Formats: sequence, C-alpha cells, structure tokens
Amino acid sequence: MLEQKGRPDMTSGETAAQNNSEQIEAWNGIVGTKWVAAQDRLDRMLAPFSVALLKAANVAPAERVLDIGCGCGATTLEFARATGPKGRVLGVDISVPMVGRARERAAAEGLSATFEIADASAHAFAPESFDIMASRFGVMFFADPASAFANIRSALTREGRLAFVCWRPVAENGWITVPFRAVLAHIAPPEPGVPGAPGPFAFADSAHVTSILTRAGFRDIVMTPHDAMMTLGAGPNALEEAVAQSIEVGPVGRMLNDQPREIIARVRESMRNELAKHVTAEGLALGGAVWIVTARA
Ligand SMILES: C[S@@+](CC[C@H](N)C(=O)[O-])C[C@H]1O[C@@H](n2cnc3c(N)ncnc32)[C@H](O)[C@@H]1O
Repeated sequence: MLEQKGRPDMTSGETAAQNNSEQIEAWNGIVGTKWVAAQDRLDRMLAPFSVALLKAANVAPAERVLDIGCGCGATTLEFARATGPKGRVLGVDISVPMVGRARERAAAEGLSATFEIADASAHAFAPESFDIMASRFGVMFFADPASAFANIRSALTREGRLAFVCWRPVAENGWITVPFRAVLAHIAPPEPGVPGAPGPFAFADSAHVTSILTRAGFRDIVMTPHDAMMTLGAGPNALEEAVAQSIEVGPVGRMLNDQPREIIARVRESMRNELAKHVTAEGLALGGAVWIVTARA
C-alpha cells in the first residue's frame, strides 16, 4: 500500500487501469488539501445527504460495506457505527491526504473501519466479499464509469446492493448557482464541458446513470430525487464561514485555483454581497439537489 506524497501509484493487484490520472492528481493536490482543511465544514454541509444515504443503504449489524470515494471518511465511520463490531467496513479512495484524515478519525473513535488508497475502477477487490457498495458523492469521477461499476460489482455478493448519492444538474443546486453569480462578475465562465465527463455533475442526467449501471450489470435501478438545505455557515460568523466555504472548495473553488490574488479578493467581496442575502437567524443555508440511487448486483 502506498503512503507517499505526490502522485501516488495505486495499490498492487490492480486490473488494467483507466486513465483517471487527472483526478488522481487533483485529489492528491490542491483539491484534496482543501477538502482536508475544510473537513468539518464540508461534513456539516453534506450531513443531510449522509442521513439520506444511510437510510437508502439500510445496513444491518454485521454487514460488509464498501464505501467508494470515501474521502475523509465521514460516511465510512457512519457505516462502521451501523454495522457494529461484527461488521466490516472498507473505505477506498485515491487521495492520500483524505484517507490519512479518515484513518485518524477512525482511530480516534476506536472504530474498526479500514481504508485502502486505490483507484476503485481498477482495484482487484476480493470477489463477492461485500454486501453493499455505498458512496456519498464519490463515484462521479471515473473515466469509464460502466467498467468502473462492473469492477465494483464484482466485489458484491450475488444478493449485494448499491446505494449512492450524486448531484442533480447545477441549475437545481443553489449552493452552486448563488456563488457562481459572484464569480461570473469577475471571470469568464468555464468552457461547457462534455456532458457526463468526470466531475461532480457527471451523473446529473438520470438516463445516463441508468445506462451506466445497466451496462455494468446492475438491476432494479431506482433513482429518487432528494432536496435538502445545506448549511454553509452557522453562528455569529455564518456569513464569513459561507464565503470561505464557497471560495475554497467545490466547482467554484476549482475555478479560482489558478486566479491571481486580486481577482480572488474581488470575488470574495461579491460573494459576501451575494451570500448576505441568504443569512437567517439559523445561519446560512443553500439548497442542494441530489439523486439517491439504489440497485441490486
Ligand atoms: C466529492 S469527494 C467525496 C468524498 C466523501 N465521500 C465525502 O462525501 O466527503 C469525491 C471523492 O472521490 C474520490 N475519488 C475520485 N476518483 C476516484 C477513484 N477512481 N477511486 C476511488 N476514489 C475516487 C476522491 O479522491 C474524493 O475523495
């Protein structure tokens, strides 16, 4: 297993690797570093979708759970709590810094969840060794998603099941459209990407996801729209927390990665004005729109 910094080679025993090098680089570079630094705030923001995922996954004590793209481990730890001491929970992710944080958290809580730094699209999982594959926003980054899901499916038992959450289109997600308005006042919009290309919104189209999972051999595919308010800031510093959150991570954060400091300062000001419109006595929350996807192996 690999633990060095920089662009990691993946664990041994891989099948033919997909070209996920861009994602591997991003999640081991500035994107991964920002996620680790903002882990508490991101987990608060994404918490409603952990609840939805846990409900959809419906894990029982002693089950074996594979958490794909586990990142800093929030859901892996939830699954470890839900499956109890007789369960087995493995979090898999390409990001060395994020898995590092996940391991620290599991150790601090004394949970037996384990983690593997590996590209889930090509990793040689032990066949039929898991009851469920689950993911919170960790499966939209594969270069060849149908073959990645086929590889993951090989790790599930015959009765195995799948449950994940992924974003619906950008236009339905206020946590993106509101900060975008502030950014677009200062920098040109990104080139429209190829629909379905690896990235947070790759699975926005339900027909595309159904086709991927069908080609990967899954059946009984159900995609349920789910909406929740996402807390970007709370307490007396709600606005500043939300500004920092919106500037540092997510698609807006990626747009700003290569921008000069003066542009970022101007975006920050516009972002503050835009987000201030959404501060309430409870803090600052914006809408998130996801698919809850379930299927059988
Ligand atoms: C949006 S983050 C979600 C992280 C975590 N599930 C959460 O909800 O906090 C996406 C995660 O997918 C991981 N990822 C991307 N491509 C992957 C791949 N081919 N195999 C395993 N993990 C991958 C990234 O490293 C990142 O941690």
